[in-house]
Amino acid sequence: MVNTHLVKSEKLLFFRRWLKAPKQLGTLAPISKRLARSAAKLVHDAACVKVVEIGAGTGRLTRTLIECGIKPENLTAVELDGTFCNFLKTSLPQANIIHGDACELPALLGEKLVGKVDIVFSVIPLMYLEPAVREQIVNQALAVLKPSGKLYHVCYTPVSPFKKNETIESNRLVSLWMNIPPGFVWEFRRVNSLI
Ligand SMILES: C[S@@+](CC[C@H](N)C(=O)[O-])C[C@H]1O[C@@H](n2cnc3c(N)ncnc32)[C@H](O)[C@@H]1O
Repeated sequence: MVNTHLVKSEKLLFFRRWLKAPKQLGTLAPISKRLARSAAKLVHDAACVKVVEIGAGTGRLTRTLIECGIKPENLTAVELDGTFCNFLKTSLPQANIIHGDACELPALLGEKLVGKVDIVFSVIPLMYLEPAVREQIVNQALAVLKPSGKLYHVCYTPVSPFKKNETIESNRLVSLWMNIPPGFVWEFRRVNSLI
């Protein structure tokens, strides 16, 4: 069960961490419940899928995924900020929380998960990253997916961070223009990927 007392303090914690690392967090508050629910709705067969979230923050999307039926033992949340990781471990003790950099995702997940993940959700603010780092994170996320796996990126940018001639192809699946700020979910795949 989600610890509601801890959850109430997430906005304050998020804001404090944003003051310390604004570009790493990207926004001064967790994503809205509406955007989290729209992203979670992209998951089919929730009870059987293995999901990884990169950039889990205080766990707004993580909790929504569990509410939508994903089993906590099938959900791994990766987060760079150690304070957020402690918060996640206390508020979501049943999920797998990994403190680390998504640039090294396969090494963080290990062979039990690499190549076996159905969906990766990225909530990392890619638009603030150098193009090479951005591409590394997306390539590492694609590398842990099973052949039919999907990479969904939740963000506030209506335009793709990848240009047409780059190696990553983008497709906007969700547009919430009435969200504050407007929220979007993109699917990323390698150019020429047949799936
Ligand atoms: C927009 S916030 C998280 C939002 C959160 N998932 C939610 O549902 O509200 C982005 C998060 O990505 C994390 N992050 C940024 N770069 C990262 C990286 N290279 N590896 C893992 N997490 C990272 C930040 O620390 C921050 O917690």
